[in-house]
Amino acid sequence: MDRWSGKVAIVTGGYEGIGGATVKKLVSHGMKVVGCARNEEKLKQIASEINGKGQGEMFPFKCDVTDESNILEMFKFVKEKFGAVHLLVNNAGIAFDSPISSGDSQKWKRILDTNVLGLSICSREAVQLMKETGVDDGHIVNINSVAGHRVVDKPMYAASKFAVTALTEGLRKELRSANTHIRTTSISPGYVKTEIFHKIYPDDTERVEKLLKSGEDIADAVLYAVSAPAHVDINEIIIRPVEQAL
Ligand SMILES: NC(=O)c1ccc[n+]([C@@H]2O[C@H](COP(=O)([O-])OP(=O)(O)OC[C@H]3O[C@@H](n4cnc5c(N)ncnc54)[C@H](OP(=O)(O)O)[C@@H]3O)[C@@H](O)[C@H]2O)c1
Repeated sequence: MDRWSGKVAIVTGGYEGIGGATVKKLVSHGMKVVGCARNEEKLKQIASEINGKGQGEMFPFKCDVTDESNILEMFKFVKEKFGAVHLLVNNAGIAFDSPISSGDSQKWKRILDTNVLGLSICSREAVQLMKETGVDDGHIVNINSVAGHRVVDKPMYAASKFAVTALTEGLRKELRSANTHIRTTSISPGYVKTEIFHKIYPDDTERVEKLLKSGEDIADAVLYAVSAPAHVDINEIIIRPVEQAL
């Protein structure tokens, strides 16, 4: 991870769960990490817990990825403060149990706005800023899901994650055509014990207890992908708890 020390990362959904664990690890490796989410208070609380312990630093930034103007403001802030971005981790994501046969179309829209369009706009802005500032060895990491590879339940969430699979590979091809060395990685977790399950199944503690221990296992995969040698492009990682069958 030495080459990332002093470099700039953006992690969306960056204070709890997988995003929070990723922010902590990147900061511990000396990176300047802009952690964004809608809850500014929680972002600031995590930043105060993390900062001052190592070389890196977390910079909280309030940003709702379903609002394009928020995303543009965040990239403006990054450009003005740091001059460049080297790593984007598209982690912000939501899920609802909202069937296709009977579900709430507003919930579907929120899933697609967050998991697909928010991720796409952040990716576009990151690549544009990397090109503009001569960052040829940047990296875009998308936190996908095993739901992006097979459908079990929550079909609109699965549709959004299948889209992430397509968008990661599509961006990889665009970057190759443009002769850049910017890399793309899709990391697809199975069950991970984070706040997302309390949000989807508030009364099902038994299901939550069976999950992977924390977002740390997934954050470790982010480090693995970005620390690969410059000639190695790790495109897809699927990580399940050993007990997970689906
Ligand atoms: N946990 C799992 O088992 C699992 C499995 C496979 C894939 N994943 C994927 O992993 C990613 C992270 O999930 P998690 O389990 O860590 O979830 P989590 O604990 O619920 O954390 C989600 C984070 O995203 C932020 N967020 C949500 N909507 C946002 C928006 N519109 N704009 C900006 N930030 C937003 C939340 O903060 P605010 O609410 O304050 O905005 C929160 O910080 C998601 O993409 C999810 O689909 C999770």
